[in-house]
Amino acid sequence: MPKPLLYAASLVVLAFVAVKVRTRLQLSAAKHASLTGHARMARRFAALVPFYEYRERDFFRADSAPDDVAARRKAGFERLAAHYRTHFAATARQTDEVQDSISDLQFTSRYRVPFQFSRVVREHFKAGAFLASSSGVTVTDLDGNRFYDLTGSYGVNVFGYDFYKECIARGSERVAALGPVLGAYHPVTAYNVARLREISGLDEVSFHMSGTEAVMQAVRLARYHTQRKHLVRFCGAYHGWWGDVQPGVGNPLAARETYTLEDMDESALRVLASRRDIACVLVNPLQALHPNASAPGDSTLVDSGRKAHFDRAAYAAWLEKLRAVCTARNIVLIFDEVFVGFRLALGGAQEYFGVRADMVTYGKTIAGGLPVGVLCGRARFMKRFREDRPADICFARGTFNAHPYVMGSMYEFLQRLETGPVRALYRDLDARWNGRAAALNARLQEADLPVQVRNLSSIWTIVYTRPSRYNWMLQYYLRAAGLALSWVGTGRLIFSLNYSDEDFAAVADRIVSAVGAMHGDGWWWSAPVLTNKAIRRRVLREMIQARCSPLIGSMSSPRSR
Ligand SMILES: Cc1ncc(COP(=O)(O)O)c(C=O)c1O
Repeated sequence: MPKPLLYAASLVVLAFVAVKVRTRLQLSAAKHASLTGHARMARRFAALVPFYEYRERDFFRADSAPDDVAARRKAGFERLAAHYRTHFAATARQTDEVQDSISDLQFTSRYRVPFQFSRVVREHFKAGAFLASSSGVTVTDLDGNRFYDLTGSYGVNVFGYDFYKECIARGSERVAALGPVLGAYHPVTAYNVARLREISGLDEVSFHMSGTEAVMQAVRLARYHTQRKHLVRFCGAYHGWWGDVQPGVGNPLAARETYTLEDMDESALRVLASRRDIACVLVNPLQALHPNASAPGDSTLVDSGRKAHFDRAAYAAWLEKLRAVCTARNIVLIFDEVFVGFRLALGGAQEYFGVRADMVTYGKTIAGGLPVGVLCGRARFMKRFREDRPADICFARGTFNAHPYVMGSMYEFLQRLETGPVRALYRDLDARWNGRAAALNARLQEADLPVQVRNLSSIWTIVYTRPSRYNWMLQYYLRAAGLALSWVGTGRLIFSLNYSDEDFAAVADRIVSAVGAMHGDGWWWSAPVLTNKAIRRRVLREMIQARCSPLIGSMSSPRSR
């Protein structure tokens, strides 16, 4: 080859390599610095964490608290355990009967608190998995205990359980003549589609059986229409349990066509602006409360590092930037409103933050209490076939899609959204819930208690203001005080919008008194050396020791996992 040609060819190769290196570096720079931001590394790290646990003696002094404090904690623990035994006996008995047969229950009961404490806690605080009834903003267990419901049924319960009972009952009556016939639609479906188009501002609708499936379908369609492979999700965001949206811990396989980028950061915008392989961006607006962190659960409450803070204007500005770059690059912008849809505003996150998406997924509450997933989208992204290539299709079906009973209940739900009492619930929504959070925080602060709440409207999380290894104990004090939490404990409290001021005052009283009782029992003992950093270091040291030697001083030998 003549020399000038050789030079030219080398220059082209060099330029190509430089571009490749640059885009790779850009991608690395757009990952959040935490383990959550590095899915592969997180999975490798998780696989290395050894099991060990505290014997009862060390259970009360995992932070090296002095003997008198450990004794106070033990006495408090025993008193609370006695309360559980006497008050929750029937519920616990029934739970025990199925404990080993329901895989989900085995999982959730094990992961309520950090694993080092889990067995002892499970033995003493049988968190009942059964409930007998619901009414107003309360649920009642098999022993007749009434709890204020802070679980929100994973977010389904936006308007109160009685509202959903009505949707299901009236909806079932409405479709009873057709019954469970599948494939053909019940006429109520036409109304549902029209209302969903109005609410979402989008052209077409598809029905699925869960939020996870709606997200799967949105991503599949985005890949089909853009002919690109990769989806972008933001660090920490949950979009269901399908493999491609769960690239980190929890999924035995690596998700090879998923980029996990740093939320609310310009570096992510640079990646979106430069790569050619991105089909869609998935946004879960719930992350606005804790950008780049996973959903907070008490099993990861190793110290008091849980953080949350919501800034509506900043998140809206971020969504606007995302919108602009997605438009410029023909990337499909998907809002996953399975959780927040109908909770933040009648028009969901699109209305609340003032930004429109190309596709929106809904679920949870939208079928009036029955299982569902819904995808709304622009016509050009929703089409599942090509006019000019009849064999090139994007397949999606599902036996139970648009089930008449689900459609009936959804019809009732959507109709009720129009009514005065429901509209009234949305009036001054944020002011109401922000005011309640601020008032509770003021009470906790006045009482010098190391607990505060943070909220995104009616979705709350508890944060801890003093370094401690025992914050997860609070969920058991709260239950004893008559507050029902889901298995993630104090990580997420979900209020239905029908909480009256009186209901909320009762909840606030119970929170303050439960936190006070836990404080009195010495769980928040503090010392200058007990910092969050020191706690994390100590836990890391314990893990290294447990990996190196199965039998170590204060800890028991590893048990079967
Ligand atoms: C934002 C979001 N997307 C998707 C899902 C998955 O929905 P489902 O549990 O109905 O599959 C959830 C569930 O919590 C969610 O919060």
